[in-house]
Amino acid sequence: MSYYKIKDLENYFKMYKKSVREPRKFWDRIADENFTWYQKWDKVFDFDMEKAEFKWFLNAKVNITKNCIDRHLNKRGYKTAIIFEPNNPNEEAQHITYEELYKNVAKWSNVLEEQGVKKGDRVCIYLPMIPELAYATLACARIGAIHSVVFAGFSASALSARINDCEAKMVITSDGGYRGNKTIDLKSIVDESLEKCNTIETVLTVNRTNSSVTMKEGRDLWVQPLLDKAQDNHVAAIMDAEDPLFILYTSGSTGKPKGMLHTTAGYMVYTAYTFKNVFNYEENDVYWCTADIGWITGHSYILYGPLLNGATTVIFEGVPSYPDFSRFWEVIEKHKVNQFYTAPTAIRALAKESLDYVQKFPLSSLKVIGSVGEPINEEAWHWYNDHVGGKRCPLVDTWWQTETGGIMISPIPFVTPTKPTYASLPLPGIQPVLMDELRNEIEGNQVTGALCVKFPWPSMARTIWGDHQRYIDTYFKAFPGKYFTGDGALRDEVGYYRITGRVDDVIIVSGHNLGTAPIEDAINEHPAVAESAIVGFPHDIKGNALYGYVILKETGESRNQDNLRKEINQLISDQIGPIAKLDKIQFVSGLPKTRSGKIMRRILRKIAEGDFSNFGDISTLLNPEIVEEIKDGKL
Ligand code: PRX
Repeated sequence: MSYYKIKDLENYFKMYKKSVREPRKFWDRIADENFTWYQKWDKVFDFDMEKAEFKWFLNAKVNITKNCIDRHLNKRGYKTAIIFEPNNPNEEAQHITYEELYKNVAKWSNVLEEQGVKKGDRVCIYLPMIPELAYATLACARIGAIHSVVFAGFSASALSARINDCEAKMVITSDGGYRGNKTIDLKSIVDESLEKCNTIETVLTVNRTNSSVTMKEGRDLWVQPLLDKAQDNHVAAIMDAEDPLFILYTSGSTGKPKGMLHTTAGYMVYTAYTFKNVFNYEENDVYWCTADIGWITGHSYILYGPLLNGATTVIFEGVPSYPDFSRFWEVIEKHKVNQFYTAPTAIRALAKESLDYVQKFPLSSLKVIGSVGEPINEEAWHWYNDHVGGKRCPLVDTWWQTETGGIMISPIPFVTPTKPTYASLPLPGIQPVLMDELRNEIEGNQVTGALCVKFPWPSMARTIWGDHQRYIDTYFKAFPGKYFTGDGALRDEVGYYRITGRVDDVIIVSGHNLGTAPIEDAINEHPAVAESAIVGFPHDIKGNALYGYVILKETGESRNQDNLRKEINQLISDQIGPIAKLDKIQFVSGLPKTRSGKIMRRILRKIAEGDFSNFGDISTLLNPEIVEEIKDGKL
């Protein structure tokens, strides 16, 4: 009997128990039976929670792209690996077979090597959602370079911060990208970002929009002429199981973004296994995840997970609202999509529009629908379940993080009964626990606490690039011996988990993690600003929106406040990206602080939410009178 596929609820419990009691045997068998290795491991795993050191499949040798591509060529050479659905519905979709994917990745690999990229070098990829993004990413993995994909919605300064942090040698970008009715000049953003970087030797540029761009002599190259000359075969590099595969940046509650480092074999095994089970993937299914490859969801469940299973995965360049709000449903119908995976923020935005947009399409190809990135509220859950899933497709609410590499808690379709807003049960191998403030594990059911994981799993991040101490401090300090997720959760009477949201200073806006500190830093750069504090408040579509409290330097000055608001948002947009703009900005004369100088965000959050009912004990504040003033001035 194979361990790879969970068959029913009884089998799930059996597998789960096995994975907890005999984790070595469990993962040994899954890794052994489902992948191609150059050399097998000496040991399944080794770890030290205190030092945050984790190793999986020790001394095994493997290349993830051989598993994603080469090994399918015999059986699935003519099968479609990638369906590319362009932004403009009138531009023809592309069907890229496994054979073609092999050739393209081989050419890209040869070009990267010719340009001097070597094993262990960092390559920053800043591309729109086009097939070249997949080729470039997989080519890095094939030659052993470490890819760091940066979401092409990030600003020049966010891009340069990431390039500098990982000391990338090359940037791969395009002249521009299409998004709805806009064209974004990506190359000029890269040019601007590189003014502040000195490690980049080469910029490879894809032509997507025929835009005019500046090419810097000796640094910038169009990739197409190089690809035209390149061989279409390539021998994959032999990688150690623990060799780095990629760095992906995620916002922290403080300071600069964290470059989460993922390594090869554990990530491969876990993303393949979870893709198969969480989406009930069967041969010939067409799978579509609407995320961007610039986020972990795209890494694990547009590229690696599906390709490892020989699946057909859709890469969608556009947005849900272009040319109109039926785009998602039209694409599902057009490509007969079987599994559809998206974010609650998209669902909420589409649910607000006329039902006709979705009801025009039977959507009968769908088998499973999924949600990821933030808690899905009850209303959105039902709308998605009823109107997209037709009440017949299991809705998998998948909880996980950039740091976890793969899905951790989720229903398994046709196995785990779903319950609205609950991510339900942990996948085999995952041991979640709830912790109280005294760092004790909370036993039993119908309880809430801080969500931790008490045992390692194969795809966990291994470190924060260049700062292992920060990795320890962020994830392994708060609850010694356990991985702390930063989320709060509730466990119901049958043991189902519901994620209630962040318990740290990270705010999730439209599914994007935003740390308060980097945004406050951006605001404070405005010459008129003395200090600021950001909190989240509930928003119908975005889940959370940002509310900024700003203290100006010269009180009483009659500067135009609307202009100031615009300037502040422009600064945030330049420093981080438009996703981090504030919905509301209130100018205040002070911020509620404790005697040790810590901002009481809890109070600011309540005011932003318009909940003035009970501020708790404010007598310990340094300046309790400010609370009333802020409340009176609320927007
Ligand atoms: O707060 C949780 C929320 O998103 C955070 C992780 O964000 P990121 O690293 O960007 O990865 C997003 C995609 C995996 C988590 O700490 N989150 C993610 N999925 C869910 C969720 N919150 C509730 N329910 C979910 N299904």
